[in-house]
Amino acid sequence: MSTDNSDIEAKVLLRRWLLDELGGATNCNVLECYGGLGHIHDAVYTEVKKHMAFELRKVNRPTWLQGDNRVLLTKNAKGWDLYDVDAYADPWRLAASCHRLTDSKRYGMAITDGLFRSLNTGVVNGFVRQRISYNGITGNSGLITRWYEDIVKWLIQDWGRYGVSVEKAKKIKSKNSHLVTYYGLILRKDA
Ligand SMILES: C[S@@+](CC[C@H](N)C(=O)[O-])C[C@H]1O[C@@H](n2cnc3c(N)ncnc32)[C@H](O)[C@@H]1O
Repeated sequence: MSTDNSDIEAKVLLRRWLLDELGGATNCNVLECYGGLGHIHDAVYTEVKKHMAFELRKVNRPTWLQGDNRVLLTKNAKGWDLYDVDAYADPWRLAASCHRLTDSKRYGMAITDGLFRSLNTGVVNGFVRQRISYNGITGNSGLITRWYEDIVKWLIQDWGRYGVSVEKAKKIKSKNSHLVTYYGLILRKDA
């Protein structure tokens, strides 16, 4: 059973920091790629200039679009100041799509990452495998868990292929799960 918000205080703290860095909530257009039932929205996004949330589950809220975020993003990727990528486990493919598709020059991204668990169990998806050249190791290979920090750094540096660089970053480990880490990033895209 997946937990929607293992440490909601940390998530809220990061998002408040991001909104401040981006000129305040009322100046920000926010896209939540994993909107869930709206806990984060209700905690930090009620005052934002514009809001949209993608969610697989049916949620009866005015700014929610039901469906697969990979599909919904293709038509709704542009014009956002903050991309919220609050995934259960793997935010990396969708984060890369946001960077590829956005037309914003300076923007924020909130990420919830469960890659530590994936590395531990050896169940790492094809996107991350390909980006970190992990294809040679199969099965249960907790072997590379100790490189978690470096792998995250490589995944973030890989956004350079879309002209994206990091201006500021904050990281908080979930206090309730050692498998989950939260990142807040202020980014620039030159392209
Ligand atoms: C960590 S929870 C998000 C919590 C949410 N941000 C909140 O405020 O409570 C992850 C959510 O992503 C949704 N989800 C998972 N895969 C998805 C996909 N491909 N497209 C859209 N939503 C997805 C799940 O149904 C779940 O509600």
